[in-house]
Amino acid sequence: MAPSTARETIFSGIQPSGELHLGNYLGAVRNWVALQDSYRCFFCVVDYHAITQPFEPAEMPRRVRDMATDLLACGIDPARSTLFVQSAVPEHTELAWALSAVTPHGELGRMTQFKEKSEKNPDNINAGILTYPVLQAADILIYGATRVPVGEDQRQHLELAREIVRKWNARFGQTFAEPEALFSSTPKILGLDGQAKMSKSLGNTISLRENDESAWGKLRTAATDPARVRRTDPGDPDKCNIFTLHRFFSSAERQAEVRTGCTTAGIGCIDCKKWLFEGVKADLHRIRARREELLATPQAVDTILAEGARRARAVAAETMVRVRQRLGVAGPKD
Ligand code: TRP
Repeated sequence: MAPSTARETIFSGIQPSGELHLGNYLGAVRNWVALQDSYRCFFCVVDYHAITQPFEPAEMPRRVRDMATDLLACGIDPARSTLFVQSAVPEHTELAWALSAVTPHGELGRMTQFKEKSEKNPDNINAGILTYPVLQAADILIYGATRVPVGEDQRQHLELAREIVRKWNARFGQTFAEPEALFSSTPKILGLDGQAKMSKSLGNTISLRENDESAWGKLRTAATDPARVRRTDPGDPDKCNIFTLHRFFSSAERQAEVRTGCTTAGIGCIDCKKWLFEGVKADLHRIRARREELLATPQAVDTILAEGARRARAVAAETMVRVRQRLGVAGPKD
């Protein structure tokens, strides 16, 4: 079934970091899966964004493919959503160039992520990390997306996309609608260290491809309420990152049991984690089964991505016709 155009359009992108981990899953992908029922969705693996950071070209195809496979395994449904790779739709980069002509340079330099990336890699402050949000705006606007499910860290980039729309429409006539961020209302998920945001590079998360033994090993040693030192000390679930995870994985009854058990020292942290692991395991197993099913059909993922790119490109090409008209530039002849 082709996605209906009557519904509002959603766009979101994810970097091809390779395998998905629990942080991506809880913070973004689970939400995307749920949104598929009510919106016309475009989900994109943004390989052209990824080249602005140090990377190995030989590894890129695998990173992209693993990410696409995991997204499908989590429940992105190609019958309802358009899943594709950014570089397969070259109109994104073309639109980014056009948008850069109305993007205030000063705003780009003020982006927190630009500053953070520059500090992290002082030897590689390339123009791409500066203009990164312009390509991100192009991703969204080329499909006329009005809703963008993102994490808090993308708030500034979304605000800038809205400013780009206002500037563009004022200069060239009404062309784009201002996209709105759709922040997930989920509690902030810290890594298993209980300190930093979950990330693969920090090693404080669980990969969705991890086996039970290794996943449990990480959960078993994960940080809990730091004030609960001895088994007999009562704990405070609201200060415990494991309890935050229970909110995602456990039933309301189980969460209530944890709260009582923890605050009365009726249960220990290991008991609490065992309960949590039941829920985590169920999700990991479901995702694994779906991944194995996909990988059992050779080319299945490639075919889905090719079809996604075809659908995306049809929409993107139409937008570019309008954009070039607005600009008075000719574009390709065929
Ligand atoms: N910058 C986003 C991130 O790192 C990924 C991204 C690229 C994106 N293009 C997008 C997200 C468009 C939302 C909409 O998470």
